Amino acid sequence: MRFYIETYGCQMNIADSELVTTILTNSGYQEAASIDEADIIIFNTCSVRQHAEERVLGRIANEKSRKRTNPGLRIGVIGCMAQRLQDELMEIQDGIDFVVGVDQYSEIPYILSSASENISAKFNQNEIYNDIYPTRQGKLNAFVTIMRGCNNYCSYCIVPYTRGRERSRPISDILTEVKQAGDNGYPDITLLGQNVNSYDYQGIKFPDLIREINKIDSIRRIRFVTSHPKDLSDDLIIAMKESDKVCHNIHFAMQSGNSEILKRMNRGYTADHFYGRILKLREVMPDIAITTDVIAGFPGETEEQFMDTYNLMQKIEFDYAFMYKYSPRQGTKAAEFTDQVPEAIRLERLQRLITLQREITLQKYQNMIGRIVEVFVENISKKSIEEVSGKTDDFKICVFPGTKELIGKFVKVKITDATAGTLIGVHYEQD
Ligand code: SAM
Ligand code: SF4
Ligand code: F3S
Repeated sequence: MRFYIETYGCQMNIADSELVTTILTNSGYQEAASIDEADIIIFNTCSVRQHAEERVLGRIANEKSRKRTNPGLRIGVIGCMAQRLQDELMEIQDGIDFVVGVDQYSEIPYILSSASENISAKFNQNEIYNDIYPTRQGKLNAFVTIMRGCNNYCSYCIVPYTRGRERSRPISDILTEVKQAGDNGYPDITLLGQNVNSYDYQGIKFPDLIREINKIDSIRRIRFVTSHPKDLSDDLIIAMKESDKVCHNIHFAMQSGNSEILKRMNRGYTADHFYGRILKLREVMPDIAITTDVIAGFPGETEEQFMDTYNLMQKIEFDYAFMYKYSPRQGTKAAEFTDQVPEAIRLERLQRLITLQREITLQKYQNMIGRIVEVFVENISKKSIEEVSGKTDDFKICVFPGTKELIGKFVKVKITDATAGTLIGVHYEQD
């Protein structure tokens, strides 16, 4: 029996798909090379915005027609949408054979071997998947989950309801997995958690974890997502500076530049605090690249409050920003707020932020022209087989002339040009 997993959502879901691949292959299932060859199609889903859910429902509606020619085909839904909607999912969308929540993945082989159709796993929320190590999906950078769940309950966010309470993974498991990744040719690792700054395993905190990982020989680059601004400590900033393998790059979600909105978002910090952390990061690591997440049109957001966000983005000059228009999520506090901003205004504000950030990103990238950077080569470029692409230490995509032999290598590149999203360069000297 061959399975195919289609993954949506954040890095956490990508890591979970790799975990499910291990669970299934350990039980004798094989990974299909394409969806056409699969006997089992699994959608690993995301609920963070309405649009993410609608896309998957559309995909399932499309793929269920395969059952006409392949009656044995089974379609499963896992991930955050499975967790949020549980059995209801099978009523909303026909053609689904099984639904499994984020903490029941070990049960998938039993569900598949059961004769009955339309089955869903029980939904409890404390699994940490100790000592199940992911089957890496071909990419050269490895995601390593260090914690699951979230306790923050930002008022707009569905994640605490889909991912359950925050749990930190034992440090010994994390170190084993990181070492294994490095030894198997994945020298660039990203540590994952909804708020990595609150990692705490029997008193071992995140800065301690980073210092330990930094000692692993086969690892060359360490990154982490996501850092919550309320918990980013001076100790972590120092640990980043002192640990030579930690990239000078941080994803640091601002969400809004107005303190009243941040309060209504239940973010636990003010705009001044956020800006103060940015200054500290830049004081300790002047070359640090900072990326962010911002939401436009949160309930009650006035034009003035929106402009606080716009102005703070202009003042900070993030290297890159992921910008979203607010999407009400049923069951969250903000969805109940009576002062929802009309859709057209949310969209118009989002567009203003995108226009602003595109100019800033372009400027930031163009400032790199003339510099020599180290690129970890990951792929042949999508646009030309005579070019390769990879990531700089500060997580910018860089394309330059080269052949597939460079894939998996760290290469010095001189930047000669830039767009708002890609650095273009020439091979300077091989490491
Ligand atoms: N834990 C991460 C943090 O706090 O930075 C964020 C994880 S969330 C999956 C990714 C981003 O989605 C958030 O930072 C937020 O900007 C955005 N997001 C979450 N809920 C949203 C909603 N209801 N509408 C629009 N954007 C949302
Ligand atoms: Fe959602 Fe907030 Fe948790 Fe991030 S910290 S996952 S935005 S509740
Ligand atoms: Fe990630 Fe989406 Fe779930 S962003 S945690 S897959 S709701």
